[in-house]
Amino acid sequence: MSEKLTLPIRPRRNRKSPAVRGLVRETTLRPEDLIYPLFLHDEEQNDAIESMPGLYRWSLAGLVEEVGRAREVGVRAVVLFPKIEEELKSSHGEECYNADGLVPRAIRAIKKQYPDVAVITDVALDPYNSDGHDGIIVEDDAGELKILNDETVEILCRQALCHADAGADVVSPSDMMDGRIGAIRAALDAAGHEEVSLLSYTAKYASAYYGPFRGALDSAPKAGDKKTYQMDPANRREALREAELDVAEGADMLMVKPAGPYLDIVRDLADSFAIPIAAYQVSGEYLMIKSAAADGWIDEEKVSMESLLGIKRAGADMILTYFAKDIAARL
Ligand code: PBG
Repeated sequence: MSEKLTLPIRPRRNRKSPAVRGLVRETTLRPEDLIYPLFLHDEEQNDAIESMPGLYRWSLAGLVEEVGRAREVGVRAVVLFPKIEEELKSSHGEECYNADGLVPRAIRAIKKQYPDVAVITDVALDPYNSDGHDGIIVEDDAGELKILNDETVEILCRQALCHADAGADVVSPSDMMDGRIGAIRAALDAAGHEEVSLLSYTAKYASAYYGPFRGALDSAPKAGDKKTYQMDPANRREALREAELDVAEGADMLMVKPAGPYLDIVRDLADSFAIPIAAYQVSGEYLMIKSAAADGWIDEEKVSMESLLGIKRAGADMILTYFAKDIAARL
């Protein structure tokens, strides 16, 4: 007969039943943590997006209905991404501050029907710019493409103002130009929009995970890449530097993007700054789960939930995710 093992410390005791596991659970996901990114276009019908199964480019009416369905399951925040018609695009993206443009009309339509839903807008030129870049582009003497920082920031300020005038609750610059948070804050305040919040894409990496999104909006760069403004995936301390600047310039919330492959950055920012942290589970992260599940390799419900719990556990207060409506319905 072997001796009875004396083992006073047994971590498994805290896992012995659903009730006990519930008591010791450290992280929980709530519908109100989620921000639902929505695509829209200036058409009458809703079009399924081929590169992002389960998602649509909504008409204005369809968009408002989808916001209603998300709200029904507890999602209280949406972020808007427009697909702009080719003939409205230009090298300076002037359409981005047209008061009657697609995004301002969408903001007004949502706020009219659902004033309690927080409407967040993306501030960047890529959907409007004939070059598909987030800023204004020039070719230098050597034929190299250059993104003009300060000229771009001026236009971003007009775009942010246009969204604020239409009733946006939060504007979210995703362009990674230098100094845009301070400039947009000053422009909003000068126009009496002190209450409009700034969610900064603080650490936005030059990521291949954005591929399906660019397909959905037809917004891929026509030439070159985004590496002179989006961050190098190899860098960690640089995110802290960006965050210091954004906080000093008046950001209300900081974002890390993508989320899953950058959880260390989410944790770094959450530990280092006393302002809320958002993380964006981007199109490629969504598509990898969707397509593996469609082929029967993984369980979509479980893996999507686990992916979001991991992002929350890493320190995100809020998560932008294309799973928002489906997940909220299961919480
Ligand atoms: C561009 C923008 C991008 C995304 C959000 N805003 C793409 C890019 O930088 O090229 C990507 C979102 C996603 O992949 O889900 N302003």
